[in-house]
Amino acid sequence: MASSTSSSAAVPGNVLIIGATGVIGQYITSAIISSGVAAKVTIFTSPSTAAAAPGTPKHKLLSEWKSTGKVHVVTGDVNNADDIRAAYRGQNTVVSALGRDSLLSQIELLRIAEEDQDSSVQWFLPSEYGTDIEYDAVKSPHEKPHQNKLKVRAFVRDHIKRLKVTYVVTGPYLDMFLALSPVPEAQANGGYDVAGKRAVVVGDGEGKVGFTSMPDVGKFVVAALRHPEAAYGKALKVQSLVTTPNAILQEFEKQTSSKWQVEHTPLDKLRQLEEQSWQAGKPYATGFTLRRIWGEGGTLYEKTDNESLGVKDEDLESLSTIVGRAVRGEGW
Ligand SMILES: NC(=O)c1ccc[n+]([C@@H]2O[C@H](COP(=O)([O-])OP(=O)(O)OC[C@H]3O[C@@H](n4cnc5c(N)ncnc54)[C@H](OP(=O)(O)O)[C@@H]3O)[C@@H](O)[C@H]2O)c1
Repeated sequence: MASSTSSSAAVPGNVLIIGATGVIGQYITSAIISSGVAAKVTIFTSPSTAAAAPGTPKHKLLSEWKSTGKVHVVTGDVNNADDIRAAYRGQNTVVSALGRDSLLSQIELLRIAEEDQDSSVQWFLPSEYGTDIEYDAVKSPHEKPHQNKLKVRAFVRDHIKRLKVTYVVTGPYLDMFLALSPVPEAQANGGYDVAGKRAVVVGDGEGKVGFTSMPDVGKFVVAALRHPEAAYGKALKVQSLVTTPNAILQEFEKQTSSKWQVEHTPLDKLRQLEEQSWQAGKPYATGFTLRRIWGEGGTLYEKTDNESLGVKDEDLESLSTIVGRAVRGEGW
């Protein structure tokens, strides 16, 4: 990959990651660093994260990345245009992994990259890494958890002409899907309790869902960066595997050599709980909506983009590997 910092440099070139220390940002960042896909990796982080106390997870992450000698860390406020302009200098590609609360900040991030006279940024990957927010022409525009991402896509459609933009759509993270919520009222959402050998599954448990594991999200972002021609201007739909809640249960039972207790949440019941939790302003309402979309088949595609990105099944994690982590207590 080219290492030039000029605006005509080949992408990905120098890569700036925003939201690197977040839940999924850390997988994406580690994968980018270890792959060598970027000529240079720069992390833009908040002063509070940069000042995280020794021994804290964010301090450990930043120290580990800096110790590779391949990473520069710059600090700033994601909502301060001067900080962003300074961070963009010499960068060719921006990968955002900003969290749900700051998704709309990306509109200014995109505008600055697009309009700044001196901008060397050519390619922008906004924070997505989740359910396809345009999975259904009728339903998608109304899904509450997707409104901010839809606004970012609308801004890109209406205002971005020069920059190339790619969304990496991974579906649910299987690692997170496996965990049963610690909030009792939210457990009807589904999940697997290893200690209690108890599962809650949506519907009859036979509905297929497409998942990506958290480490595989990093692999797919690297694959997108390696294949600009396949990634430019696309919402790439990628996944590690397609499986069912019952197949996951069987894998848990196999790996724990025991029969589990199973409860079912019918889809209609899930829809009812979804509505009630939004009305009551519950923080877990988003989870109900997402599980309903997944239960209705919103993660199933005729064809994924895995192949066009050069990703083969054997490059990806298997169900047994991901369940194994959960059984060992090393999962999400
Ligand atoms: N598919 C799934 O199952 C799934 C699950 C969870 C999330 N996601 C998606 O993954 C993406 C990232 O989510 P996440 O949960 O990983 O994010 P997160 O951990 O909540 O936040 C990521 C980073 O964003 C920065 N940040 C957060 N709030 C900020 C603010 N107000 N101002 C400035 N910076 C802020 C922080 O970076 P610094 O600490 O470095 O400053 C933070 O570490 C989202 O698009 C989300 O929808 C998908």
